[in-house]
Amino acid sequence: MGLVRNVGRRLNRYSGWMKRLSAALLLVLASISCSAGAASVAEVKKKGTLVLGTDPTFAPFEFKGSDGQVQGFDIDIARAVAHDLGVRLEIRPVGFGALMPQAVTSGRVDVAMSGITITPERATVVTFSQPYYRSAQVFIVRSGNPGKFTWPADVKGKTVGVQANTTGQYAAEQTLKPRGATIKVYDDFAAGLADVRSGRIAALIGDAPTVNDLKKRLPGQFDKAGAVLVAEDYGMVFRKGSDLAAAANRTLARLKRSGEYQKLLNKWIVQK
Ligand code: ARG
Repeated sequence: MGLVRNVGRRLNRYSGWMKRLSAALLLVLASISCSAGAASVAEVKKKGTLVLGTDPTFAPFEFKGSDGQVQGFDIDIARAVAHDLGVRLEIRPVGFGALMPQAVTSGRVDVAMSGITITPERATVVTFSQPYYRSAQVFIVRSGNPGKFTWPADVKGKTVGVQANTTGQYAAEQTLKPRGATIKVYDDFAAGLADVRSGRIAALIGDAPTVNDLKKRLPGQFDKAGAVLVAEDYGMVFRKGSDLAAAANRTLARLKRSGEYQKLLNKWIVQK
């Protein structure tokens, strides 16, 4: 009996100790996940930096210039948001697959900008700013369209490339696959472009302004083909419920009012 009581007491003591330990662990974990990234205007102001997550392979929105610096339309807008908050902008390159939405939801970055399309599915896990750019998904083919790719007339038996985790991939799977196209998924957009150039795939789906930019930078290599697949809007991405979204909206409104937004369009985006 004595032994049983003794063991029972010890077990009780042990489980009380375990409870205190796990409560302490939870507290530590919670404070780590808070300090990993700021969810609010107050936290960003306190640390004095706004951390921007971006995949800088997407000219003219974000790309590395010849000096190695990340620049583009999105970067200038993020700089204006940081300026209005009175903090420094820190740019953190993240591959698109990890950026949307994990880098934001985990708090690794305070905001993501990367030509990111606003969708209802994404809006269930993150908070978007107001739309800041009207875009579309289009088809890129080798100059002259030797594979005779057309949309929507015929995609049956054609292989079409998409970048992983993008709205181009979602649209392709929803509308091209049922019509008999094969979808090839690339982590890296540049690898898809190389396959268009070599004729390994009939077309690659990309965002219209980036395709216009490509055509200008690499004349005679690529064309757009077929109709627009889907129109969409870009937004800045924040942790769910963050008041940073409202701050960003105020900056967007200021840029539009002052004419700076139009200047940025003229500076970065190829009008076609
Ligand atoms: N607009 C598309 C999307 O949100 C593609 C964005 C890709 N951006 C990039 N930096 N690679 O899914």
